[in-house]
Amino acid sequence: MVVNYEDKKLTQRYQLMAQTIIPRPIGWILTQNDEGVLNVAPFSYFMGLSSEPATMVVSIGHKSDGTPKDTLKNIRNNKLCTICMVDESSMQKMHFSSKEIPSHESEAVMFEIETQQIMDGFPPIIKDTPSAFFCTLYQEIDLANSKTIPLIVEIQYQYIDEKIIKNKEKLVLEYDPLLRVGKSYATLGEKITPPQIP
Ligand SMILES: Cc1cc2nc3c(=O)[nH]c(=O)nc-3n(C[C@H](O)[C@H](O)[C@H](O)COP(=O)(O)O)c2cc1C
Repeated sequence: MVVNYEDKKLTQRYQLMAQTIIPRPIGWILTQNDEGVLNVAPFSYFMGLSSEPATMVVSIGHKSDGTPKDTLKNIRNNKLCTICMVDESSMQKMHFSSKEIPSHESEAVMFEIETQQIMDGFPPIIKDTPSAFFCTLYQEIDLANSKTIPLIVEIQYQYIDEKIIKNKEKLVLEYDPLLRVGKSYATLGEKITPPQIP
């Protein structure tokens, strides 16, 4: 079967892509508005983009009332975000934090998500995150007519929990991220060593 994307509605395209382009990493993004309200929300249209400049891309949509999601609003406003990686231990709180709530309320307060302020000038990290990226907005991509806005963010600093560092000098890290597969979650299976290219 070959599907013509021109004939498909947005929700059908999403469904097809989200079940095929898998697994997707989850970026648990913390931002702040001008009043200092801490916003926390997960995003899985999220991926590393380049190491020079060190960038990642995250695509953020709109709320059910048609206004930009708070994460998008906050990043557009102050150009800052902290993106935390997630492991299985945080699944429930991460999932709960996807609830659509008013901008003046904080998911961190509503769902008792513990955070830690460790980097001046950036939003805090989630307390038990294996790793977090402190980022600035690099570029907003204009996808014509799209309600989903890809943002390229540049990594300024990375926090790494000591427990995932296997070799500090060689910068070897190891952890088991929580991944998005369709509407479900998964963890990594067995790693496969690549064969030698002849
Ligand atoms: C695992 C997971 C991944 C998600 N990925 C995205 C995404 O890539 N883009 C998006 O716009 N919404 C995504 N959502 C939905 C947002 O988390 C949700 O709309 C949230 O309310 C946005 O919050 P905000 O308005 O505080 O920014 C995802 C939800 C979950 C549970």
